[in-house]
Amino acid sequence: MPIAKKVTKAVFPAAGLGTRFLPATKASPKEMLPIVDKPQIEYAVDEALACGITEYVIITGKNKRAIEDHFDFVYELDDNLSRKGKDQVLASINRFSAYNFAYIRQGRPLGLGHAVLCAKPFVKDEPFAVILSDDVIHPDDELMKPMIEIYEKRQAPVLALMEVPQEDVSKYGIASAEPEGDGLFRITNLIEKPSPKDAPSNLAVIGRYVLTPDIFEHLEGLQPGAGGEIQLTDGIRSLLARRPVYGCLFRGHRYDAGDKLGFLKATTELALRDPSLRDAYREYLIGLSSRLK
Ligand code: G1P
Repeated sequence: MPIAKKVTKAVFPAAGLGTRFLPATKASPKEMLPIVDKPQIEYAVDEALACGITEYVIITGKNKRAIEDHFDFVYELDDNLSRKGKDQVLASINRFSAYNFAYIRQGRPLGLGHAVLCAKPFVKDEPFAVILSDDVIHPDDELMKPMIEIYEKRQAPVLALMEVPQEDVSKYGIASAEPEGDGLFRITNLIEKPSPKDAPSNLAVIGRYVLTPDIFEHLEGLQPGAGGEIQLTDGIRSLLARRPVYGCLFRGHRYDAGDKLGFLKATTELALRDPSLRDAYREYLIGLSSRLK
């Protein structure tokens, strides 16, 4: 058996228009919307960093330059903060400087499957993670790490799964899957955004994937699917005919920060986790809740 390659690369699709957050996203990327004090995309990159991933490719498009600047070194800021002795802030903003960031432009927004296909020249023949930054995972919960462990053991692609209410199935890729114990599933089918009556289960794919490079053959030449877009779900479904694909059930906290209410929930819960805000914010929320009664 060939020696397994480690997962050291992650792909972050970030070319979407963010129309649900207009006008905030008219000229700036939705991935840069801050949750407390950190842009959404940075939560996603931190998640990858925590799993030992060292190379990052962000799939961008029009109006996304702020993302490139964000992960870059800023001399003026560096100089200013070191003169003021703000070493902790400095270390925090420079913590990505040892890693490789690449940016690939997705000229036309043809869908998530197409965005992932744009990463082919960067990924080459290695396994890789895909992280959708608007699915925010609470930093205290682990998801990518157990997924990578499953990949390493099974040498097969792994998708993150979460149970969702039946009325929400049409927002997700939905899996048919056989449980293998301990939150591990073998995927048997996938449907992108089915109507509740066509959904084979309520197991939704949330935005974390560990994929193998053979996915690219299945994305190339794929016809548009749900919503007229080239869907990653359809590419993975086609891969299922050739090799096993696994699902890893997530039971932690996930926020759909691509949606206004989900974004507010993420902001509130992550603010309550911040020691500098926790007590005052909690007090404010308790007061607010009694005023709302
Ligand atoms: C994408 C995927 C979908 C997945 C979802 C998770 O959809 O296409 O399969 O369930 O992310 O958030 P989107 O939310 O981009 O429409």
